[in-house]
Amino acid sequence: MTHSLKFWAVVPAAGVGKRMNADRPKQYLQLNDKTVIEHTLMRLLSANVFTAVAVAISEEDPYWPELAIATHEKVITAAGGKERADSVLSALKAIRTLASDDDWVLVHDAARPCITTTDIKHLIETLKNDEVGGILALSSHDTLKSVQGDCIVDTLDRSFIWRALTPQMFRYGLLKTALEEAEGNPAITDEASALELKGLKPKIVEGRPDNIKITRPEDLALAQFYMEHQND
Ligand code: CTP
Ligand code: MG
Repeated sequence: MTHSLKFWAVVPAAGVGKRMNADRPKQYLQLNDKTVIEHTLMRLLSANVFTAVAVAISEEDPYWPELAIATHEKVITAAGGKERADSVLSALKAIRTLASDDDWVLVHDAARPCITTTDIKHLIETLKNDEVGGILALSSHDTLKSVQGDCIVDTLDRSFIWRALTPQMFRYGLLKTALEEAEGNPAITDEASALELKGLKPKIVEGRPDNIKITRPEDLALAQFYMEHQND
């Protein structure tokens, strides 16, 4: 008997936003009419592909319960963890009785509010028959230098270097196992690296450059600009 695969979204949103240097975690900063995290979640929900969205929230977070979206019927709240990978694993555990090992999970940073349905569907269409899964990524336009101190020691071949974005799309069972095996390893800064550690080779799918991560203060204005100019 065949069963139809489900798609789940996992949103790590338990960071403090140190580099943003604001009075609250960056996911709660205002961006036009809504907070950053409300944009992110609404965009994921409006893609209309996810059974539910599991959001990892810090236990000391006073902002989340104030948002209407926290009680949306498709939003599941999980506890955040020390590192991003811990938050993702906690969100995966929160849906363990709902998800099957073969279901797809798309992990997407709360701090990327400009994600489009186009990119979500492009990732899913490209990888839905893949064994391992993969990530949205961007090539580099700039020439890349390898540096020691303040001296250039080499010019890198740009065609081998990609910037990892989110969503990152993997099978529920494989992702959970990979993150459990990698627990506490500081080199695991995204989901793909946990699978790479198992010797697997996630795919890259070229994403849109407007899917920026809000990291530093100037990124808010850039996100605002992109939002005003996106119509898909
Ligand atoms: N994140 C998380 N749990 C953590 C750390 C980060 O859920 N322990 C989330 C962040 O909330 C963010 C995403 O992972 O949505 C990407 O992380 P990053 O951009 O590094 O956010 P912060 O860690 O909050 O920012 P900073 O590194 O500047 O402190
Ligand atoms: Mg961080």
